[in-house]
Amino acid sequence: MILMKIHITRPVPQEAVDFLESRGHDVTSPQEHGLPSRSSLLSAVRDVDAILSILTERIDAEVMDCSPNLKVISNMAVGYDNIDVVEANLRGIAVCNTPGVLTETSADFAWALLMATARRLVECHKFVEQGKFEWWGPQLMLGADVHSKTLGIIGFGKIGRAMARRAQGFGMQILYSGETAPERSEMGRKVDFDYLLKRSDFVSLHVPYRESTHHLIGKREFKLMRPNSYLVNTSRGAVVNEAELVEALQAQDIAGAGLDVFEEEPRVHPALLSMPNVVLAPHAASASVETRERMAMMAAQNLLACLNGERPHSIVNPEVL
Ligand code: GLV
Repeated sequence: MILMKIHITRPVPQEAVDFLESRGHDVTSPQEHGLPSRSSLLSAVRDVDAILSILTERIDAEVMDCSPNLKVISNMAVGYDNIDVVEANLRGIAVCNTPGVLTETSADFAWALLMATARRLVECHKFVEQGKFEWWGPQLMLGADVHSKTLGIIGFGKIGRAMARRAQGFGMQILYSGETAPERSEMGRKVDFDYLLKRSDFVSLHVPYRESTHHLIGKREFKLMRPNSYLVNTSRGAVVNEAELVEALQAQDIAGAGLDVFEEEPRVHPALLSMPNVVLAPHAASASVETRERMAMMAAQNLLACLNGERPHSIVNPEVL
């Protein structure tokens, strides 16, 4: 067996490291949990055969230049906008991702954000925590109903459909849109993008980030949305124009937002931090113990399959195989 050099760009669940090491490969990974500096990333990937990457690391031509033997970049995420796939294609490097294993966990979290935003859960928590709960009040912490409302799902892939299944349990009407969305679904009705924005009480985003989805939601779209509607974003931050979201919230064009992702992570637009009708999370939709283990293992298995010349479970650019 030929032993390969593999670099994992951030600490991941140990079983994935053990799996790769058990095959005798030389596996390196930073010990600290913080972000590696660009220079330490560049020196760590020097002459490696494979990179198991995390979405915080930009894997571009500069990184690929450090490792002429690089055969595979295996991202521990379903999204892969941190990787220059065009550049990888030019060099015949396989790029893999981890769809499927995080679908239900991510939809659980999108649902939690929707519920928390509509029912003011974070405000409620702070209220009690700060000792302000002195009596039950007929007008205290009134939020919006979720059941029986209309949910608009933009992007009807695996996670979008998992969101729809949850909404069915709440008796919601489901509208969906998306370039590749199926024409029919027993869960809801495919509609035009603008119609969805105009008719939905909740709009949840489940599209991948790419040029065509950059700032998909901005001023024009917020004007189309209902003043009592909510936006939930667990996709990628730059799908929403964050400055225009702030303006829309300030102008009460929409009622609130549940946000797991931001345009310039980990930076969050400062105005969002003090808005009571906004619930914020640190890009945590797939963050359950079980799912992160599954993602790490899938990334490791994809990586190994490519090194062994086998077809991985999920590859973004199969043309290089
Ligand atoms: C997380 O954001 C992922 O793409 O898996």
